[in-house]
Amino acid sequence: MTDKRHPMSAKMAPHIAFLGAGNMASAMISGLIAEGFSPNQLRASDPSEAALARLQEYGLTRLGTTPDEIFEGADLTVAAVKPQIIPSALASIKGQLGPDSALLSIAAGIPIASLQSHVGPDVSVIRCMPNTPAMIGLGASALFAADTVSASQRSLAEQVTNAAGTTVWVASEALLDAVTAVSGSGPAYFFALIEAIARAGTELGLDEDISMALTIQTALGAAALAQQSGEGVATLRENVTSPGGTTEQALQSLQTSQFDAVVAEAVRQCAARARTLGEEFG
Ligand SMILES: NC(=O)c1ccc[n+]([C@@H]2O[C@H](COP(=O)([O-])OP(=O)(O)OC[C@H]3O[C@@H](n4cnc5c(N)ncnc54)[C@H](OP(=O)(O)O)[C@@H]3O)[C@@H](O)[C@H]2O)c1
Repeated sequence: MTDKRHPMSAKMAPHIAFLGAGNMASAMISGLIAEGFSPNQLRASDPSEAALARLQEYGLTRLGTTPDEIFEGADLTVAAVKPQIIPSALASIKGQLGPDSALLSIAAGIPIASLQSHVGPDVSVIRCMPNTPAMIGLGASALFAADTVSASQRSLAEQVTNAAGTTVWVASEALLDAVTAVSGSGPAYFFALIEAIARAGTELGLDEDISMALTIQTALGAAALAQQSGEGVATLRENVTSPGGTTEQALQSLQTSQFDAVVAEAVRQCAARARTLGEEFG
């Protein structure tokens, strides 16, 4: 009888090894298991016993505080360590990666050329820019890979990022700087907006917790409506803006303060910083 949770035959089942078992890796692993991956297909190394203990709860057994043999024969290695750790961490597993291996790096800012120099020319390298809502399965990831990376390796990388949210592919590595500016750093812009609206509500007399709860639910509702209604965001905005009404007054005030220009400049500066950091890492 087929096990519906583990539909892939043992022979076809790809193996994924995680270098680093922190927040992002454990979110991806729990998502992959929820989608039917067997814990036997997943492995990880991390110096932290506590991080590995969390993965044991998902049923993973091939775990190590050192990388010994964890990465041998894995179809995909996910580099999920902090960017400054990447050179030493990749050096420690290089001997285990063969010509059929693929590397998916979620480390912010490290260019493909730099990743490739750490693992050697035979390994297929895919770069990802994730964001922190991945930790609750609502991430937005963008992937880029050179033409030499096979369709099956791309598909496996996409399964990993889809397990923690949604995935898009971009046509050039340079576009990952734009992705950083939109979705990579994006959650922080929304947090800042939530803080500002909630603070203003408090100044108008609402209790702090009530103002924050209303603001967060409004952000959640607006995002869900934008995603689900089938209408464009501009139409949804116009729908709540009656002529001469309260919303129109607020939007006019934002316009007078050059809201669009302020936001656009912040996004541009973020992309420029991502470019500079990428050059430093490169
Ligand atoms: N765009 C974004 O907003 C965004 C969001 C999230 C993550 N990211 C990227 O995703 C990556 C992972 O982030 P995270 O939040 O999951 O980090 P994290 O929670 O700190 O996880 C990293 C893990 O790697 C471990 N580690 C350190 N050295 C190692 C080594 N040599 N080999 C194996 N594991 C090692 C760490 O252990 P210790 O704690 O003991 O050092 C830690 O458990 C980062 O590169 C980050 O840039 C980007």
